[in-house]
Formats: sequence, C-alpha cells, structure tokens
Amino acid sequence: MRHSPDTVSCVAAEYMTQETELRLLQAKISAARSLAVLTGAGISADSGVPTFRGTDGLWRNFRAEDLATPEAFERDPRLVWEWYDWRRQVIAGITPNAAHAAVVELERRFPEFWLITQNVDGLHRAAGSQKLSEIHGNIWKVRCTSCEAVEENYTVPIPMLPMCRHCGALLRPHIVWFGESLLPSDLTRCGEVLRSCDLLLVIGTSGVVYPAAGFAAIAKDAGAFVAEINFDSTPQSAAMDLSLKGRAKDVVPLLL
Ligand code: APR
Repeated sequence: MRHSPDTVSCVAAEYMTQETELRLLQAKISAARSLAVLTGAGISADSGVPTFRGTDGLWRNFRAEDLATPEAFERDPRLVWEWYDWRRQVIAGITPNAAHAAVVELERRFPEFWLITQNVDGLHRAAGSQKLSEIHGNIWKVRCTSCEAVEENYTVPIPMLPMCRHCGALLRPHIVWFGESLLPSDLTRCGEVLRSCDLLLVIGTSGVVYPAAGFAAIAKDAGAFVAEINFDSTPQSAAMDLSLKGRAKDVVPLLL
C-alpha cells in the first residue's frame, strides 16, 4: 500500500507530537516529588486479561454490568460464580507484563508513591507492587455473605457453590460490585494521595466508572499534572494535561 504525501505528513506530525509529549512526561517524572498511579484493565490487557468494555469482555454474551451486581448474585449466585470461576481460570495462567514491572520500579524510585488500581486480578501484587489500594477488591479473595470473614482463596476451579468454612453460609467474591461503595478506608487513602501528589499517571482505564473516573479531576484540581496512557482516546482525554497513545507494556517502561 502507498501513502499519499498528506497521509505521510499526518503520521509524521502525530509521531512528532507523541515524541514531544513523551519527553515532557519524562521530564515531569524526573522533577516530581510525589507520584500517584491509577490503573485499569488496559494495563493487564497486555498480559492477556480480557478488558471489561472491549470486545473480549463478554462471557456467554453477558456484560460485566449484568453480572457484577449484588442483584445478579442474589438472583443467580451460581451464574455469577461461574463467571468469576472462568475469570479466575483465565487469570491463573497469566503473569504480569513490562508495564506492571515499570510501575514497581517507579514505586522503588519515589519515596512518596501510591498506586490505585481498579483491577481485581492481583497482577500488580504479583509483579511486586506494595504501596497500593485495590479499590475494587481482589478476585483471589472471598467474603462470607453472613459472618463477612474475608480469606484468600486460590482454588481453581472453585467448588460450586463455595461455602464459608467458619459458619457454612454462601461465599461471594471479595469484589466491589456496581451499586456498592468502596471501602471507606480506601476512599480516604485515595483522597489523600490524589490531593497530595504532584503527578498522576492514568494508565489503561476507560474512565467511565465512578468514583475512579473522578480521580483525575480531583488530582488536577489540587494542582497535579495529570497524564493518560491509553491505547485509545477516552472521555477523559480532553481534560488531561497530556495523553500518550499506545500499549501500556510499550509506553510505561519508556517513562523510567
Ligand atoms: N494498553 C493501554 N490501554 C489499553 C490497552 C493496552 N494494551 N488495552 C486496552 N486499553 C484501554 C482501553 O482503550 C480502555 O480505555 O484500557 C481501557 C479499559 O477500559 P475498561 O475495559 O472499561 O476497564 P476499566 O476502565 O478498568 O473499567 C473500570 O469497571 O467493569 C468495572 O469494576 C470494573 O474495574 C472495572 C471498572
């Protein structure tokens, strides 16, 4: 295929802009004192974890919004557990990628650092991240619907239906579902981090699910420089100080 001169100059201009933006972000990172990172499904997509709103996010034609709700679990706990069991089986065979590793390195370099992830796959912890809030929970934890005991559970496949070993009641995934609130302790921590960081990196999230979708605005209002790294444009792109387009596994390591 041949490109017209116009197409070539557009591609060149886009490349130049991205190159300039990358250098600017590298400089901002060098100058920053306190760094915060917000991640979504896009950072794990490069490891092979299906995103929620991408075409690979469907399971038996259900969307995440159809299954990740307290109502869906009440109506049909087996269906919801089968979906989580499928996701646990997919994630069990997956390892962190270069973007997860780069976030660990950023944590090592910054004395003031905090990672806020919406991902429940546990890949940030598996990569070595320690200063983090998993604000939507963790797919490898279960919680009793009666006594509320929370435990790690790595059994794959998980027996249907899983029951609490303390009180015998039904277990549920320890995940914050649509319509549920984040843990107050996580919300407090995120508020502190967002208001005190001078740079926020927003990596691989569609920015449509609140409260995380409002985190960039909180940091920006408090004076932080906010940069997005995403494969695509998002509803938040226009409000960012800078947007880098690309795969997380390719772009995030360039920030080191
Ligand atoms: N590199 C960078 N970004 C990517 C990549 C990649 N390799 N692949 C996909 N993306 C981007 C997509 O362009 C999209 O903007 O990642 C984003 C993924 O968006 P969602 O699937 O909506 O995931 P997320 O934003 O994490 O969803 C938020 O919604 O379903 C709930 O609780 C669930 O935590 C989840 C929340």
